[in-house]
Amino acid sequence: MHATARPDFTVPACGPHVAAPTGVMVLDLMRGAVRLLRSVPRRLRSRQAIFNRIYATNGWGSQESVSGCGSTLRETRVIRQVLPPLIERYGVRSLLDIPCGDCNWISSIDFGTQTYIGADIVGELVQRNQAAFGGSGDRTFMHLDIVRDPLPAADLVLCRDCMIHLSNADVLTALRNVRRSGAKYLLATTYTARPTNPDIVTGDWRPINLQAAPFSLARPLELISEEWDWADGYHADKCIGLWDARGLPA
Ligand SMILES: C[S@@+](CC[C@H](N)C(=O)[O-])C[C@H]1O[C@@H](n2cnc3c(N)ncnc32)[C@H](O)[C@@H]1O
Repeated sequence: MHATARPDFTVPACGPHVAAPTGVMVLDLMRGAVRLLRSVPRRLRSRQAIFNRIYATNGWGSQESVSGCGSTLRETRVIRQVLPPLIERYGVRSLLDIPCGDCNWISSIDFGTQTYIGADIVGELVQRNQAAFGGSGDRTFMHLDIVRDPLPAADLVLCRDCMIHLSNADVLTALRNVRRSGAKYLLATTYTARPTNPDIVTGDWRPINLQAAPFSLARPLELISEEWDWADGYHADKCIGLWDARGLPA
C-alpha cells in the first residue's frame, strides 16, 4: 500500500498526499516512540493474522479495492497495458500471481490459453476470488504464504506490491522461495531511486529497492515505470522489474 507521502511504518490510509513537515528533534523522538509502541501488536502476531486483519478491516482504506489504493484501475493503468505483451515476449505459458489480492485489476486481463494461478495469504480472499473468477476453470486460486509455502510451478511469478509490506528477512526468504519453485522469471515491485531498504515489521509499509542491499538483485531484464503521478512525486520511481529467477538469492 502506498498512500502516505512518506513511509510512516504503519498501515497507511488513502488520502491526499502532502509532504511531511520537517520535524523538530523532540517531535521525531516522540514519533519514533509512538511507532515502536504501535508495532508491538504486529510483532506478536503471525503474518497470516496480520493480513487477515488488514483484509477484515479494509485497513488500506480504499473504497475501490480491499488491496488498497495501489490496486485501483487508475494506479494499475500501466501494468494492465504492459503485462499481456510482456508475457507474450517471454513465452510465458503459466503465471503465478502471488499475492493476487482481490483481483481488482488483473481480473480484467484476458490470459487466453495461459494458465493463471492466483494466491494470497488471506484464505477468505482466496475463497472469494475462486467464487467470483474461478468458475470457468482457466483461473485457479490457492491459499499460500510466499514466505513459507512451497509454490506451484509456473513460468512467471508476479509479485506486485507485496514485499513492500514484508520485513527484510521475510523478503529474502520469499525471494529464495521463488527461486526454489523453479520459475523462470520474477516480476516484482521495486522503487529504483531508494538507496537503502529500511527494515519494517511485516504488515507495515515502506518502498523497497530490490537492487539495493540486503537483496542486491542484478539489473533486471526489464524495468517498467508504473507512472504514478502523485502530487508530491514520492512514488515517481515506482517500477515493476522483471528478473531471471535463476539469479535470485539461493
Ligand atoms: C497491496 S495488496 C497487492 C495485491 C495485488 N498484488 C495487486 O497488485 O493488487 C497486498 C496483498 O498481499 C497479501 N500478502 C501479504 N503477505 C503475503 C504473503 N506472505 N504471502 C501471500 N500473500 C501475502 C495480502 O493479503 C494482500 O492481499
